[in-house]
Amino acid sequence: MSKVMIIGAGGVGGVVAHKCAQVPEVFSEIVLASRTLEKCQKIRAQLARPIETARVDADNTSELIDLIRNVQPRLIINVALPYQDLSIMDACLETAVDYLDTANYEPPDEARFCYKWQWDYQERFRQKGLMALLGCGFDPGVTNIFCAHALKHHFDEIHTIDIMDCNAGEHGHPFATNFNPEINIREVTARGRYYENGKWIETDPLAIHKSFDFPQIGPREMYLMYHEELESLVRNIPGIKRIRFWMTFSQEYLTHLRVLQNVGMTRIDPVHYKGCEIIPLQFLKALLPEPSSLGENYTGKTCIGCMITGVQDGRERKYYIYNICDHAAAYKEVKAQAIAYTTGVPAMIGAMLMLQRTWRGAGVFNVEEFDPAPFMEKLPQYGLPWTEKFLA
Ligand SMILES: NC(=O)c1ccc[n+]([C@@H]2O[C@H](COP(=O)([O-])OP(=O)(O)OC[C@H]3O[C@@H](n4cnc5c(N)ncnc54)[C@H](OP(=O)(O)O)[C@@H]3O)[C@@H](O)[C@H]2O)c1
Repeated sequence: MSKVMIIGAGGVGGVVAHKCAQVPEVFSEIVLASRTLEKCQKIRAQLARPIETARVDADNTSELIDLIRNVQPRLIINVALPYQDLSIMDACLETAVDYLDTANYEPPDEARFCYKWQWDYQERFRQKGLMALLGCGFDPGVTNIFCAHALKHHFDEIHTIDIMDCNAGEHGHPFATNFNPEINIREVTARGRYYENGKWIETDPLAIHKSFDFPQIGPREMYLMYHEELESLVRNIPGIKRIRFWMTFSQEYLTHLRVLQNVGMTRIDPVHYKGCEIIPLQFLKALLPEPSSLGENYTGKTCIGCMITGVQDGRERKYYIYNICDHAAAYKEVKAQAIAYTTGVPAMIGAMLMLQRTWRGAGVFNVEEFDPAPFMEKLPQYGLPWTEKFLA
């Protein structure tokens, strides 16, 4: 029996609230806190059991500390934005509460995400006997756990990993992002990066692409990008020779993005306009549909998984493991599209394993550092079935 506090009432926060509410034997009390109280209240109204709501600015550590002292949760599930990761971790240290998130820290004025800032908290969490679990969404999150599962059961050595993320859904808008527009566009417009033979190799944004035939979807063009799980998997999968991340985009999405970039709307430096300072990307976010609003008319599926090669008992093997998630089915269950669903379900499962002390440690951890078995077992149970197969 445990009280949790979810921070962030967006697309993912809504799914986490729904999924935690479905498991009262673990999440006995739930508090949903976010910057805009009405969004918490809207989610609360969708749930079959009562939860508490609160307003908080998670950039403000002392405000957060006051709220945590008042609420006294055992665990904080941070599904606000990556900008808030460090202030929430600081508040957790101050109040002796465990921490979980789905996206690594990124400074607001610099489009550069990496784990260093959060890994630097290792000693402080360890000394206080607290646990911080980083990147427990789908990618990062389940994709890392798929790799740990493959290493545990199917490979003596993993040589290459290709993480492939396909959203073949239709939301009916000419241009919208499936998670927070600011974070999504910063990620997609960044230079590509992958790891090969001990070195990181940089590419122009979306410069490398190829087609892949996704199960239940068909061929889609996917583009090489840098993604945060590459950094932790290079550290945690011994002997890895190459790891890359690919994401599919429609031509419609890419054309809009190119125009927005060309006219300066994706800039993150301030622009002076009629006596005000405006950050173009933040203004663009205000114009675009909220990710949490996309679900109602979303159709189609996502397919996210890992193609892995390596050796077992001296034999070369090629292995593919993936999940398929249906947008309309996700909406029917929790009023959210599949991207939010595939992020929120793993966050809930990670929280459950922490609260049940199945996954336990003092310090800062990435998900692949724990035994994948209990997580893999719970994925289909809570809505994310997975399929694995060996390829010729
Ligand atoms: N690992 C994965 O697979 C994965 C996939 C998708 C997304 N993610 C991550 O999940 C997180 C949530 O994404 P989302 O799509 O749900 O975004 P979203 O719909 O934009 O929701 C973000 C929520 O955080 C709130 N928030 C922002 N700043 C805050 C602050 N200073 N204090 C308190 N609340 C604050 C927002 O409040 P307002 O409504 O007031 O703005 C909003 O409710 C992001 O970090 C994203 O990168 C991870």
